[in-house]
This record gives sequence, structure tokens and C-alpha cells, in this order.
Amino acid sequence: MQTSFTQQATDILRANDRGGFTVPTPRLYPYQWNWDSAFAALGFGTFDRNRAWQELETLFAAQWPDGMVPHIVFRRDDPDYFPGPSVWQTGSTPPSSGHSQPPVAASIVWALARSGSAADAERARALFPKLLAFHRWFHKSRDPDGTGLVSIVHPWESGRDNCPDWDSGMERIEVPSDLGLYERRDLTHVDAEQRPTATQYDRFLTIVKFGRECGWNQEQIYRNGPFLMGDPGIQFILMRADRDLRALAMMLDETGPVAQIDRWIATSKEGCDLLWNDAVGSFCAKEMRSGVLGDGITNASMLAFYAGAGSAEQRAMLIRHAEAILARVAYGFPSWDPRHEAFEAQRYWRGPVWSVVNYMMVLGLEECGYDELAQRLRHDTIRLIERSGFCEYFDPITGRGYGGGSFTWTAAIYLAWTQGFEISQAA
Ligand code: DGY
Repeated sequence: MQTSFTQQATDILRANDRGGFTVPTPRLYPYQWNWDSAFAALGFGTFDRNRAWQELETLFAAQWPDGMVPHIVFRRDDPDYFPGPSVWQTGSTPPSSGHSQPPVAASIVWALARSGSAADAERARALFPKLLAFHRWFHKSRDPDGTGLVSIVHPWESGRDNCPDWDSGMERIEVPSDLGLYERRDLTHVDAEQRPTATQYDRFLTIVKFGRECGWNQEQIYRNGPFLMGDPGIQFILMRADRDLRALAMMLDETGPVAQIDRWIATSKEGCDLLWNDAVGSFCAKEMRSGVLGDGITNASMLAFYAGAGSAEQRAMLIRHAEAILARVAYGFPSWDPRHEAFEAQRYWRGPVWSVVNYMMVLGLEECGYDELAQRLRHDTIRLIERSGFCEYFDPITGRGYGGGSFTWTAAIYLAWTQGFEISQAA
């Protein structure tokens, strides 16, 4: 008898469990990744609440004293992955990378807490101060001048590593002659056509070198680092997470920080306008040193609905773009606009469909009353998985699955949708 997709998804989460934390996929990503883990917790939440909390607790056990939750936690050195802890040299315990990743954790904690028992509320209460410190860190370290727009210091911080959004910032980076030789490991696991290029890797590592050489001083990295860009993805995910953190605070009766969270929400709403490109009619990435806005529309631009960002007019423009983009592809939502010359259907974040972004997009669209679009995306995601398996990402034209297989967050989203467990709207 064929194993059901639900059973397969459950089996993937169990198989990727390394004892309290899950790897996104074996070999290609053999450590704990920040937003991957948060989505893993959502998946575990559909069948094992204790394990869901554990996933978040192990992630926050790696929180830095300043509140940062790193993008990768290296619990042991694994030769299958590059760049490992000896390249980052952050000196943290446990060893970790030196920047963060999209802060979805508070939204997942809120989802688990509000749908759970008193025991769930207690686990959420223990995490609450850590979540608050994480958000404080994001607002302070990634927007030190209080503009309402948080920036990223490395494309990896966006989670959308090689998206054309970052091309303008990446082009500014001069690769130093002493970068040194290195051997990529990702290309031994996945076809090069589906991964970032060699030029991009040199630049990724140049940013890491800068961080390492300044002792991971976040102020230095923000002010003088080789890369600084405004990211609609991080901006919208943090806005949503702030709202969810506020809802959690109210539920737990931890009202002390609510005024502070309200200020974050209000200034972030203003900060979004710094990403609006009138010529395109969308929220776009922004190269911060030059102030130049990008011209591409991504699945992250479409997270405006999830964030509760944008005016009625801006939202109407985004919907028109979403419809035009979806008319070009068999499966939505592509990570880069197929009408743009930089679109590549197979290459990681330069075109493929990602289940976790679809998940957040669908929630936002539903909450704003765009049910038909939301339904199409949910249906497309489930069809992709049932057609091509639990892959890391999917070709929006052919539906083929790419990147790592048996992928944790793809399994988690499948479970969340088919088992009816969702991140509900913040009160
Ligand atoms: C990778 O190694 O490709 C990761 O996405 C970096 O976080």
C-alpha cells in the first residue's frame, strides 16, 4: 500500500530530527537553521506538541547575549556543509553564524499558544522574553537610526539567498585577493543550475570575512559592511511577528512591553513606504548605500498582505501584479517575476516556488479578502508536493521539484494545511 502524503510528511519531520532540533534536509543543510526550525515547529505542532516546543527552545538556546538568534546553529562540525563554524568564527556557544534570518518564530509561538492548552501557554511564557529580545535586536541592530525600515547585512539574512533583489548590492562588493581558496559542498548534493553561482559565493564569503574581521560587531557591519539592503521579506515578516508578539503578550498578560511593541508596529508601517517603487507599482528591495530601489516583484513583495502593510491603492496594484504573474505560470507563486529578464525557473530564489512563502502569502491574502487568489496558491502548493514530492523548491512552469529532497519545511507546510493548523491572525 502506498504511504499517504500525510504519513510521508510526518516521517520526514521524524527522520530529520537530530535530537531536539531538525535539519532542513540531510547532507545539503546538516545543521539547525533559524526560520526552517520555526516552520518545523508548525509541522510538529500538528501531531506532537512537545516536540514542536522543543524545536523552538533549542533554537533560542543559541540566542546571543544581545538578543540575536543566528541563522545557523552548528552543534557539531559537519564536513558536508560549507561554510561551517571554522569559517564564521563567531565565538558563540553553541557555535553559530553571525547574522540572523527572517523572524517568523513569534508568529509560530503565537499559533501554538493560542491553539493549545495551559501547558502550551507556559512554554510560550518561558520563550516570551527571548522573543522580545530578538525583536528588540532586529529593530535596534538592523535599523539603528529608527527609520522604520530594517535592513539585511547579508543576502543569507533574507533567507532568499540569490534572489535578483540582491544583485545591485552584490555588484558593489569587491572580492579581496586574500579571500582564499575554498571548496563549495552544496554542488556535491545539488545540480549547479539550481544553486547560486561562483561569483555570488565569492561575494557571500567576502561579507562573512568582513564580519569575522570586525569580531561580529553588528554596528560596524551595519555602518561599514560590504552589503546593506532593505528587504520587503524581512520588513513584512517582522511586522507580522510584532503583531503576533503583541497578541501573545496580551494573552499571557505580559503587558509591560506592549507600548514598545506598538511603537515598533507604527514606525514599521511608515518604513514600508521607503520600499515602495512607484515606477513598478510594488514594494521592492532597496540598496541602502545608494538609496536605489530595485525593479523586481517577488513573492516577498506579496507578503505586504501578511504584514498588514500598504494603502488600499498599493494593495490593489499588488493584486493586479499577482494576477498578471500567475497568468504566466502553471504554479504560483514564483520567487521572481517571470516578466523580468532575470527570471530563472530552476535557480533557487530567482524564480522557483517556495512552500513557506506561499503559506504566509495565503494567510495574508485570506485575511485581506482575496480568497480566490489564496485558494489558487494553496491548491498549487499541494499539487506541487503531491506531483513532485517534498522538495526544497519547485519550477513554476513545469512543476518539477529541485534542491534538497525530504525537505522539513515543505513537509511542515503540507501538514499545517492538510491537518488544518494555521498561524491565525493576531488579535
Ligand atoms: C545555504 O547554504 O545555501 C544556505 O541557504 C545559507 O543559509
